Amino acid sequence: MENTVLKEGNMDKYINQAKTLLEALPYIQQFNNKIVVIKYGGSAMIDEDLKKSVIKDITMMKMVGMKPVVVHGGGKKISETLAKMGKESVFLDGLRVTDDETMEIAEMVLSGNINKGIVQMFHEQGIPAVGISGKDANTIIAEKKMPEGKDIGWVGEIQKVNPELMLTLMEEGFVPVIAPIATDEHHHTYNINADYVASAVGVALKAEKVVYLTDVEGVLRNINDPDSVLSRIAVEDVDRLIDNKVIQGGMIPKLQNCKKSILEGVNRVHILDGRQEHCLLLELFTNSGIGTMIYKSEE
Ligand SMILES: Nc1ncnc2c1ncn2[C@@H]1O[C@H](COP(=O)(O)OP(=O)(O)OP(=O)(O)O)[C@@H](O)[C@H]1O
Ligand SMILES: [Mg+2]
Repeated sequence: MENTVLKEGNMDKYINQAKTLLEALPYIQQFNNKIVVIKYGGSAMIDEDLKKSVIKDITMMKMVGMKPVVVHGGGKKISETLAKMGKESVFLDGLRVTDDETMEIAEMVLSGNINKGIVQMFHEQGIPAVGISGKDANTIIAEKKMPEGKDIGWVGEIQKVNPELMLTLMEEGFVPVIAPIATDEHHHTYNINADYVASAVGVALKAEKVVYLTDVEGVLRNINDPDSVLSRIAVEDVDRLIDNKVIQGGMIPKLQNCKKSILEGVNRVHILDGRQEHCLLLELFTNSGIGTMIYKSEE
């Protein structure tokens, strides 16, 4: 008797599990075979458990038929490494001023340590991944960026994304993991804020979505109030929010690039809190509105 009760209890649990799975079906159908670019912010990559949760979410996306592409940053780790070497990090509107030595360290941290660390985590989940930087197969071609005429060193402006290598990798079942380093026709090395890379890669791959994972709840109206998340921002409002200084620092390139992606044909762009466990699955497979969505106002 006791056994039967237990079994029935279990059956309810399993039926509920099956129902939960089925709730995701429309989303799985909608995104089947679609490319989703995930910008993984350096700031959200510090905690080991959270890192694992993000990689597991992306594993799930891949296993249900999406084509994820990961673009990673690494600002915090670069700053830490520079500090260990007694070098201070200098930023101009969220962009790292990059002299020769900083470039060398940034490439080492991004293309080496962080990129291969992410690849390894995918392999731990049984997902084949290949880590490249924008240098590989000339995937990202840049030229020197001069914001408002100012020379900030080896900071690149993306000229072109050659999507062939990423497409080949995806065709063969690999998840491409991209470090935000680029080259130019003279074979110089450039450091590019990963937000620009995510946007340009999303456009070049005709991605369905670009999702920026960062270390805040979303775009905040008041940076000191985590409850002030703006859940939707129209592209037309982005410049005003920057001019009014509502958006500062690392959020500036992020929003500029969200705007760019939308205007250049990416369907959906989101900024999510990478510290929130399973934020990607919540965003993709449920209709819970988390983080900030950037949209074209005719929507
Ligand atoms: N209005 C705002 N709302 C939210 N965050 C803001 C705002 N204005 C400025 N920020 C800052 O932007 C930061 C996010 O950008 P940041 O460049 O530090 O991280 P990331 O882009 O996720 O990582 P990485 O640069 O390593 O790729 C937040 O931690 C916050 O301090
Ligand atoms: Mg940033």
